[in-house]
Amino acid sequence: MFHVGKLEDLDIGEAIKLDQFNPPIAIIRGESGEVYAIDDTCTHAKASFCDGFVEGDTVECPLHMSVFCLKTGVPDNPPAIKAVNVYDVEIRDGEIYVEVDR
Ligand code: FES
Repeated sequence: MFHVGKLEDLDIGEAIKLDQFNPPIAIIRGESGEVYAIDDTCTHAKASFCDGFVEGDTVECPLHMSVFCLKTGVPDNPPAIKAVNVYDVEIRDGEIYVEVDR
């Protein structure tokens, strides 16, 4: 498991970009308070979700406004049609960890 940082440092609606992975991974906190991890590359034209807008537990791509479910990675509306990869997140003792197999 990869250690991301402290949960208290990630406010609702905020994102952390993990540039050390290729493609980068976005750690995003939804409005439910849940923390999600997805590839930070939109499946349409590669925009960064870290620049997007969180609403509920979804993120809207900043470029062409496809809305992706943070839990499943599936887009709700075109132009994106392919799901983005999602990763398991664990919160232990107030610290965020993500399961990445690469
Ligand atoms: S780059 Fe995300 S919808 Fe186009």
